[in-house]
Amino acid sequence: MVMLKVDNINVYYGAIHALKGISVEVKQGEIVTLIGANGAGKSTTLRTISGLLKPKTGQIVFEGQNIAGVPAQNIVKLGISQVPEGRRVFAHMSVLENLELGAYLRSDTKEIKEDMDKVFSRFPRLGERRSQLSGTLSGGEQQMLAMGRALMSRPRILLLDEPSMGLAPLLVKEIFSIIKDINQTGTTILLVEQNAHMALSIANKAYVLETGRIILSGDAKELAASEEIRKAYLGG
Ligand SMILES: Nc1ncnc2c1ncn2[C@@H]1O[C@H](COP(=O)(O)OP(=O)(O)OP(=O)(O)O)[C@@H](O)[C@H]1O
Ligand SMILES: [Mg+2]
Repeated sequence: MVMLKVDNINVYYGAIHALKGISVEVKQGEIVTLIGANGAGKSTTLRTISGLLKPKTGQIVFEGQNIAGVPAQNIVKLGISQVPEGRRVFAHMSVLENLELGAYLRSDTKEIKEDMDKVFSRFPRLGERRSQLSGTLSGGEQQMLAMGRALMSRPRILLLDEPSMGLAPLLVKEIFSIIKDINQTGTTILLVEQNAHMALSIANKAYVLETGRIILSGDAKELAASEEIRKAYLGG
């Protein structure tokens, strides 16, 4: 079943035509990845899905409903949650307060508490640091907090924008294994990555973006094995 269908969207920043007819499909239960060089339009695609930008033309259908142009807050309520590039945790708030903010549209107190416990068991380091100011966390811990905060809205689909950026190799591995686990426990994933090698290794399907267009798409394993992708994105 197709959960999210981005259909031929065109997105502008003023006069800059950032997305030139992008189409992406995500089926329920999948991990789908968008890869491509700097400035290709990966973040713009995620920001448009999550309602921060409005496409000039084209549709975004989530579980049968056209959500293009729907306010971001309503999109979170529908079950789409984004972890932005660069994490953006609230530095002057504690870990706990950041996580509570992730649930601010919910009123089901008991379930919120359950989800908080789940976040702490998935990310034990956040549990240990629940009272610490978020700005004093390490880069990897801030990434975990940003992911935990997004999970606090109980998303049906999680949009991740470069979760491995700036992290040491060991931590990159850890983050990717957590993403896989989040997926296996029932959350669909749309993953933007510069680390094409790691992204293709956990994804079902992949799209390659170049200057606002999709130039290649298909099964992630097949793309990882293709000459073209190996040369351009996997260092040979
Ligand atoms: N706020 C903005 N105002 C004007 N142009 C923007 C803005 N944000 C992005 N762009 C432009 O839109 C294009 C796509 O940018 P986007 O951030 O989506 O790329 P990206 O694939 O996420 O790149 P990166 O890998 O560097 O994060 C780029 O040409 C960029 O300069
Ligand atoms: Mg980006």
